[in-house]
Amino acid sequence: MASFDLSSRVALVTGGARGLGRAMAAALAAHGATVLINGRSQAALDEAARSVGGHSAVADITDAASRDALFARIEAEHGGLDILINNAGARARRPLEDFAPGDLERVTEGNVFAPFELCRLAAPMMRARGRDSARGRIINIASIAGPIARGGDAAYTAAKAGLIGLTRALAAELGSGGITVNAIAPGFFATESNTQMVEDPAIGAWLKTRTSLGRWGRADEIGGAAVFLASDAASFVTGHVLVVDGGHVSHF
Ligand SMILES: NC(=O)c1ccc[n+]([C@@H]2O[C@H](COP(=O)([O-])OP(=O)(O)OC[C@H]3O[C@@H](n4cnc5c(N)ncnc54)[C@H](OP(=O)(O)O)[C@@H]3O)[C@@H](O)[C@H]2O)c1
Repeated sequence: MASFDLSSRVALVTGGARGLGRAMAAALAAHGATVLINGRSQAALDEAARSVGGHSAVADITDAASRDALFARIEAEHGGLDILINNAGARARRPLEDFAPGDLERVTEGNVFAPFELCRLAAPMMRARGRDSARGRIINIASIAGPIARGGDAAYTAAKAGLIGLTRALAAELGSGGITVNAIAPGFFATESNTQMVEDPAIGAWLKTRTSLGRWGRADEIGGAAVFLASDAASFVTGHVLVVDGGHVSHF
């Protein structure tokens, strides 16, 4: 169990007030990490921080000044960062011809550009802190829309595939500095952002036959993957995409 212990690690989870981010923040905190929960709403973050046992870290990750201020606060208040989970994303489910100019940029900004910039800020901090213990961890939350695709979701699929490419590229670049970079590709989880789909019985019936486990994922079922990749147990795992989907990508 010691290799899963995260005490003395400082972790930032973007978009951690609800859904998968909140579940991963809770799992990291339960394994001893000091967890900084990011989002744009101070009230939502304060509630999540109280419930999970972390700290609020308000910032809009798509805004450069906001990102810089967040990292300056992390350095001043926590002396650096060991674990970065790029979880906040942006969605745009619609057919190609319903996209307006600028939509693709917005989706890419949340799913690729902001994680890229956060990695750029985090890497020197992780190198400085973890030089002797090689414990810097970057975990990008991609999606099974990345390795596989379906119609009506082109911008998101392209952006998440980009995030997986970024994961591999940074794994290659940052490994010598003791930083691992991995992705988690969640399948269909019953989070707030999917409420409409969760309430649609046709989608429930489709998932029953389309996934090996035959159901939606619960948010807490992502926590184990995040703890594993953040911990010493995964010290030789990098550039990997860990699919957590109840058997969707693997199921024909
Ligand atoms: N749920 C699924 O089934 C599923 C499947 C595959 C992949 N994913 C991926 O997993 C991640 C989490 O999805 P989710 O459904 O759990 O959460 P979500 O409902 O999409 O949102 C998560 C959080 O992101 C925050 N956020 C959004 N934009 C932000 C920004 N610019 N700066 C800071 N925070 C921001 C939101 O808080 P505020 O609005 O208060 O800032 C919200 O609390 C996403 O990257 C998503 O693409 C989810």
